[in-house]
Amino acid sequence: MTNPDQRLLYDSVRDYIEQLREEGMDGLPIKDRPVNSATVEAKRETIVASKPLNAEMFGRYPGIENAADLPSLRSFIGECTRCKLHGHRTNLVFGVGNPNADLMFIGEGPGADEDAQGEPFVGRAGQLLTDIIERGMGIKRADVYICNVVKCRPPENRNPEPDEVFACEPFLFRQIEIVKPRVIVGLGTFAVQCVLKVKTPISKLRGNWQEVRGIKMMPTFHPAYLLRSPGEKRFVWSDIQEVMRTLGLPIPGRGKD
Ligand code: URA
Repeated sequence: MTNPDQRLLYDSVRDYIEQLREEGMDGLPIKDRPVNSATVEAKRETIVASKPLNAEMFGRYPGIENAADLPSLRSFIGECTRCKLHGHRTNLVFGVGNPNADLMFIGEGPGADEDAQGEPFVGRAGQLLTDIIERGMGIKRADVYICNVVKCRPPENRNPEPDEVFACEPFLFRQIEIVKPRVIVGLGTFAVQCVLKVKTPISKLRGNWQEVRGIKMMPTFHPAYLLRSPGEKRFVWSDIQEVMRTLGLPIPGRGKD
Protein backbone atom coordinates (compact mmCIF):
# COMPACT_ATOMS: atom_id res chain seq x y z
CA MET A 1 0.00 0.00 0.00
CA THR A 2 1.28 3.46 -0.80
CA ASN A 3 0.04 6.80 0.47
CA PRO A 4 -0.15 9.84 -1.90
CA ASP A 5 3.25 11.18 -0.73
CA GLN A 6 4.92 7.85 -1.35
CA ARG A 7 3.23 7.66 -4.74
CA LEU A 8 4.52 11.15 -5.65
CA LEU A 9 8.01 10.19 -4.51
CA TYR A 10 7.84 6.96 -6.47
CA ASP A 11 6.65 8.78 -9.62
CA SER A 12 9.37 11.42 -9.25
CA VAL A 13 12.14 8.83 -8.84
CA ARG A 14 10.80 6.85 -11.79
CA ASP A 15 10.68 9.99 -13.95
CA TYR A 16 14.19 10.95 -12.88
CA ILE A 17 15.61 7.54 -13.73
CA GLU A 18 13.73 7.63 -17.02
CA GLN A 19 15.25 11.00 -17.70
CA LEU A 20 18.75 9.68 -17.02
CA ARG A 21 18.09 6.90 -19.49
CA GLU A 22 16.83 9.51 -21.98
CA GLU A 23 20.20 11.15 -21.66
CA GLY A 24 22.02 7.92 -22.33
CA MET A 25 23.26 7.14 -18.83
CA ASP A 26 23.76 3.47 -18.07
CA GLY A 27 24.45 3.96 -14.38
CA LEU A 28 24.66 6.59 -11.69
CA PRO A 29 28.05 8.20 -11.20
CA ILE A 30 29.35 8.24 -7.63
CA LYS A 31 31.22 11.41 -7.01
CA ASP A 32 32.69 13.12 -3.98
CA ARG A 33 30.96 16.38 -4.47
CA PRO A 34 30.36 18.90 -1.70
CA VAL A 35 26.56 19.01 -1.56
CA ASN A 36 26.16 20.72 1.76
CA SER A 37 26.98 24.25 0.71
CA ALA A 38 24.62 26.53 2.61
CA THR A 39 24.17 28.86 -0.33
CA VAL A 40 23.28 26.14 -2.76
CA GLU A 41 20.76 24.70 -0.31
CA ALA A 42 19.28 28.14 0.35
CA LYS A 43 18.90 28.74 -3.37
CA ARG A 44 17.37 25.30 -3.84
CA GLU A 45 14.74 26.19 -1.24
CA THR A 46 14.04 29.49 -2.93
CA ILE A 47 13.65 27.84 -6.30
CA VAL A 48 11.37 25.09 -5.14
CA ALA A 49 9.30 27.07 -2.69
CA SER A 50 8.57 30.29 -4.50
CA LYS A 51 7.01 31.55 -7.68
CA PRO A 52 9.37 34.47 -8.13
CA LEU A 53 7.85 37.72 -9.22
CA ASN A 54 9.56 39.84 -11.81
CA ALA A 55 10.96 42.13 -9.15
CA GLU A 56 12.61 39.24 -7.34
CA MET A 57 13.84 37.43 -10.41
CA PHE A 58 14.88 40.38 -12.52
CA GLY A 59 16.28 42.11 -9.43
CA ARG A 60 19.13 39.61 -9.73
CA TYR A 61 20.26 41.47 -12.85
CA PRO A 62 19.46 45.18 -12.68
CA GLY A 63 18.82 46.57 -16.13
CA ILE A 64 17.59 43.33 -17.66
CA GLU A 65 14.11 44.79 -18.04
CA ASN A 66 15.55 47.43 -20.35
CA ALA A 67 16.44 44.70 -22.84
CA ALA A 68 13.39 45.27 -25.01
CA ASP A 69 14.17 42.79 -27.77
CA LEU A 70 16.08 39.53 -28.17
CA PRO A 71 19.32 41.02 -29.58
CA SER A 72 19.42 43.47 -26.63
CA LEU A 73 18.86 40.61 -24.21
CA ARG A 74 21.63 38.61 -25.88
CA SER A 75 23.96 41.62 -25.53
CA PHE A 76 22.92 42.00 -21.90
CA ILE A 77 23.93 38.39 -21.23
CA GLY A 78 27.29 38.94 -22.94
CA GLU A 79 30.12 36.46 -22.45
CA CYS A 80 28.37 35.18 -19.36
CA THR A 81 30.35 33.95 -16.35
CA ARG A 82 27.45 34.12 -13.89
CA CYS A 83 27.52 30.40 -13.11
CA LYS A 84 30.02 27.57 -13.23
CA LEU A 85 28.68 26.19 -16.54
CA HIS A 86 30.52 28.90 -18.45
CA GLY A 87 33.80 27.04 -17.98
CA HIS A 88 32.51 24.04 -19.92
CA ARG A 89 30.87 25.69 -22.90
CA THR A 90 32.00 26.16 -26.47
CA ASN A 91 29.03 28.39 -27.34
CA LEU A 92 26.34 30.01 -25.27
CA VAL A 93 23.07 28.71 -26.75
CA PHE A 94 20.66 31.61 -26.46
CA GLY A 95 17.67 30.61 -28.59
CA VAL A 96 16.54 30.53 -32.19
CA GLY A 97 13.52 31.31 -34.30
CA ASN A 98 10.85 33.91 -34.87
CA PRO A 99 11.05 36.71 -32.27
CA ASN A 100 7.28 37.21 -32.69
CA ALA A 101 6.37 33.53 -32.62
CA ASP A 102 2.96 32.37 -31.44
CA LEU A 103 4.58 29.18 -30.24
CA MET A 104 7.64 28.72 -28.04
CA PHE A 105 9.37 25.45 -27.13
CA ILE A 106 11.41 25.30 -23.95
CA GLY A 107 13.93 22.51 -23.35
CA GLU A 108 16.35 21.83 -20.57
CA GLY A 109 19.78 22.85 -21.75
CA PRO A 110 22.17 22.41 -24.66
CA GLY A 111 23.75 19.04 -25.38
CA ALA A 112 27.01 18.40 -27.22
CA ASP A 113 25.69 19.25 -30.71
CA GLU A 114 23.98 22.39 -29.50
CA ASP A 115 27.12 23.49 -27.64
CA ALA A 116 29.18 22.95 -30.78
CA GLN A 117 26.75 24.80 -33.09
CA GLY A 118 25.37 27.45 -30.74
CA GLU A 119 21.77 26.55 -31.61
CA PRO A 120 19.20 24.67 -29.50
CA PHE A 121 17.82 21.29 -30.53
CA VAL A 122 20.08 20.46 -33.46
CA GLY A 123 21.14 16.93 -32.39
CA ARG A 124 19.09 13.72 -32.66
CA ALA A 125 16.45 14.93 -30.22
CA GLY A 126 16.42 18.22 -32.10
CA GLN A 127 15.80 16.45 -35.39
CA LEU A 128 12.79 14.76 -33.82
CA LEU A 129 11.55 18.10 -32.48
CA THR A 130 11.96 19.58 -35.95
CA ASP A 131 9.92 16.69 -37.38
CA ILE A 132 7.20 17.28 -34.79
CA ILE A 133 7.07 20.95 -35.79
CA GLU A 134 7.41 20.64 -39.56
CA ARG A 135 5.87 17.26 -40.42
CA GLY A 136 3.51 17.00 -37.47
CA MET A 137 2.30 20.58 -37.08
CA GLY A 138 2.83 21.64 -40.68
CA ILE A 139 4.73 24.80 -39.79
CA LYS A 140 8.36 25.80 -40.27
CA ARG A 141 10.90 25.48 -37.49
CA ALA A 142 11.91 29.07 -38.25
CA ASP A 143 8.36 30.21 -37.43
CA VAL A 144 8.50 29.09 -33.79
CA TYR A 145 10.90 30.14 -31.05
CA ILE A 146 13.08 27.50 -29.37
CA CYS A 147 15.21 27.93 -26.28
CA ASN A 148 16.29 26.22 -23.07
CA VAL A 149 16.18 26.82 -19.34
CA VAL A 150 19.97 27.06 -19.16
CA LYS A 151 22.02 28.48 -21.98
CA CYS A 152 25.27 26.58 -21.45
CA ARG A 153 25.84 22.86 -21.69
CA PRO A 154 26.00 21.00 -18.38
CA PRO A 155 29.02 18.65 -18.41
CA GLU A 156 28.25 15.04 -19.31
CA ASN A 157 24.69 16.17 -20.06
CA ARG A 158 23.83 16.11 -16.36
CA ASN A 159 20.81 18.04 -15.14
CA PRO A 160 21.47 21.71 -14.50
CA GLU A 161 22.02 22.33 -10.80
CA PRO A 162 19.89 24.70 -8.70
CA ASP A 163 22.49 27.48 -8.61
CA GLU A 164 22.85 27.26 -12.40
CA VAL A 165 19.09 27.51 -12.90
CA PHE A 166 18.99 30.37 -10.41
CA ALA A 167 21.63 32.22 -12.41
CA CYS A 168 20.09 31.58 -15.85
CA GLU A 169 16.32 31.58 -15.41
CA PRO A 170 15.88 35.38 -15.51
CA PHE A 171 17.06 35.21 -19.13
CA LEU A 172 14.45 32.60 -20.00
CA PHE A 173 11.66 34.54 -18.31
CA ARG A 174 12.75 37.71 -20.10
CA GLN A 175 12.76 35.78 -23.40
CA ILE A 176 9.18 34.72 -22.65
CA GLU A 177 8.21 38.33 -21.96
CA ILE A 178 9.85 39.62 -25.12
CA VAL A 179 8.52 36.95 -27.50
CA LYS A 180 5.10 36.87 -25.79
CA PRO A 181 4.04 33.63 -27.47
CA ARG A 182 0.40 32.57 -27.31
CA VAL A 183 1.43 29.07 -26.29
CA ILE A 184 4.51 27.50 -24.71
CA VAL A 185 5.34 23.81 -25.00
CA GLY A 186 7.48 22.62 -22.10
CA LEU A 187 9.71 19.71 -23.12
CA GLY A 188 10.40 17.13 -20.45
CA THR A 189 10.50 16.88 -16.70
CA PHE A 190 13.26 19.32 -16.03
CA ALA A 191 12.10 22.23 -18.16
CA VAL A 192 8.50 21.91 -17.04
CA GLN A 193 9.33 21.65 -13.34
CA CYS A 194 11.73 24.61 -13.61
CA VAL A 195 9.32 26.87 -15.41
CA LEU A 196 6.30 25.98 -13.27
CA LYS A 197 8.27 25.73 -9.99
CA VAL A 198 6.65 22.43 -9.13
CA LYS A 199 7.92 18.93 -8.41
CA THR A 200 5.00 17.11 -9.98
CA PRO A 201 6.21 14.35 -12.32
CA ILE A 202 5.89 15.00 -16.05
CA SER A 203 3.76 11.87 -16.36
CA LYS A 204 1.11 13.69 -14.30
CA LEU A 205 1.54 17.11 -15.89
CA ARG A 206 1.67 16.23 -19.56
CA GLY A 207 -1.43 16.82 -21.58
CA ASN A 208 -2.83 19.30 -19.03
CA TRP A 209 -2.70 23.01 -19.73
CA GLN A 210 -0.69 25.05 -17.25
CA GLU A 211 -0.03 28.76 -17.06
CA VAL A 212 3.23 30.71 -17.04
CA ARG A 213 3.02 34.45 -16.62
CA GLY A 214 -0.44 34.53 -18.17
CA ILE A 215 0.62 32.33 -21.12
CA LYS A 216 -0.79 28.84 -21.72
CA MET A 217 1.80 26.12 -21.37
CA MET A 218 1.46 22.52 -22.50
CA PRO A 219 3.87 20.14 -20.77
CA THR A 220 4.89 17.14 -22.81
CA PHE A 221 7.61 14.51 -22.97
CA HIS A 222 11.11 15.45 -24.10
CA PRO A 223 12.01 14.34 -27.64
CA ALA A 224 15.11 12.56 -26.24
CA TYR A 225 12.73 10.41 -24.20
CA LEU A 226 10.76 9.61 -27.35
CA LEU A 227 13.93 8.39 -29.05
CA ARG A 228 14.22 5.77 -26.32
CA SER A 229 10.52 5.13 -25.90
CA PRO A 230 8.92 5.58 -29.33
CA GLY A 231 5.72 4.03 -28.02
CA GLU A 232 5.14 7.25 -26.04
CA LYS A 233 5.02 9.38 -29.22
CA ARG A 234 1.25 9.02 -29.31
CA PHE A 235 1.01 11.03 -26.06
CA VAL A 236 3.14 13.83 -27.47
CA TRP A 237 1.09 13.83 -30.66
CA SER A 238 -2.05 14.15 -28.58
CA ASP A 239 -0.50 17.08 -26.63
CA ILE A 240 0.67 18.71 -29.85
CA GLN A 241 -2.78 18.38 -31.41
CA GLU A 242 -4.21 20.15 -28.38
CA VAL A 243 -1.70 22.96 -28.98
CA MET A 244 -2.65 23.05 -32.68
CA ARG A 245 -6.34 23.33 -31.79
CA THR A 246 -5.56 26.25 -29.49
CA LEU A 247 -3.51 27.99 -32.18
CA GLY A 248 -6.17 27.32 -34.83
CA LEU A 249 -3.83 25.17 -36.90
CA PRO A 250 -5.45 22.55 -39.13
CA ILE A 251 -5.06 19.01 -37.80
CA PRO A 252 -4.36 16.46 -40.56
CA GLY A 253 -7.51 14.60 -41.50
CA ARG A 254 -9.73 16.87 -39.44
CA GLY A 255 -9.48 20.41 -40.76
CA LYS A 256 -9.84 23.39 -38.43
CA ASP A 257 -12.08 23.05 -35.36
N1 URA B 1 17.91 18.83 -25.15
C1 URA B 1 17.46 20.01 -24.66
O1 URA B 1 16.74 20.03 -23.66
N2 URA B 1 17.81 21.12 -25.30
C2 URA B 1 18.55 21.13 -26.39
O2 URA B 1 18.83 22.20 -26.93
C3 URA B 1 19.01 19.90 -26.89
C4 URA B 1 18.67 18.75 -26.26
